Amino acid sequence: MNGRRKRVVGNWKMNGSLTANAALLDELLPQLAVLEGVELAVCPPFPYLAQVAALLEGSGVALGAQNLNVATKGAFTGEVGAEMLKELGCRYVLVGHSERRSLYGECDEVVAEKFAVALAAGLLPVLCVGETQAQRRQGQTEQVVSAQLQAVLRRSGVQGLAAGLIAYEPVWAIGTGETASPEQAQAVHRHIRVLLGEFDRERAEATAILYGGSVKADNAQALFAQPDIDGGLIGGASLEAAAFAAICQAASQQQERPQP
Ligand code: PGA
Repeated sequence: MNGRRKRVVGNWKMNGSLTANAALLDELLPQLAVLEGVELAVCPPFPYLAQVAALLEGSGVALGAQNLNVATKGAFTGEVGAEMLKELGCRYVLVGHSERRSLYGECDEVVAEKFAVALAAGLLPVLCVGETQAQRRQGQTEQVVSAQLQAVLRRSGVQGLAAGLIAYEPVWAIGTGETASPEQAQAVHRHIRVLLGEFDRERAEATAILYGGSVKADNAQALFAQPDIDGGLIGGASLEAAAFAAICQAASQQQERPQP
């Protein structure tokens, strides 16, 4: 028993429409309403934050964004700041997703700055880390993940990092249908917790470390049963009500039960 609550965060990426979002949540929310002991959130694209905030009201499911700018406001065409996200009701914000790193050139330092800015604004940043297939083949998984974490540790300290969430998402497993095995994922999650523990044991134990990368209804349970996997960051399957509900249910079933 580790005292950490399971969490499931849906990352809709650049998907959805006013009609599709309403239909998805209409089907999904009643199924989530009966689940206990699990923290749930969905992260729609920016233009739908207000719509989804209204639809989530009273559901217990939190709202998140997929990105933020490090500046609060000003001449940054096309960008969105932390206070804007807060004003729209966001609780979570993804930081350093591998698609942001690889397609939009976000380096570890920029990601660390975004993490710090999100925390300072009172948002819960979800720091995404993970290695590519080539890096795994070369035995560099731990080194790559450590470097991604170190940048945030340098900027925000262990106290800051532990105040947010971490999502381990092997790049080769994102959107590919190829999931890390529960053992492969657990090994990296353990590595992350041990690394944090070198700075602060207590905070390391309390930090939520989610797994992401082709989590589906049929593999969620085995992943969430691992001692250092505290839930999931879900892409593709978060767009299907039945699949996302089943994943959330798998997390709920793993909830901490009070000792008799
Ligand atoms: P996936 O995406 O579940 O579609 O693999 C996960 C993510 O990118 O967060």
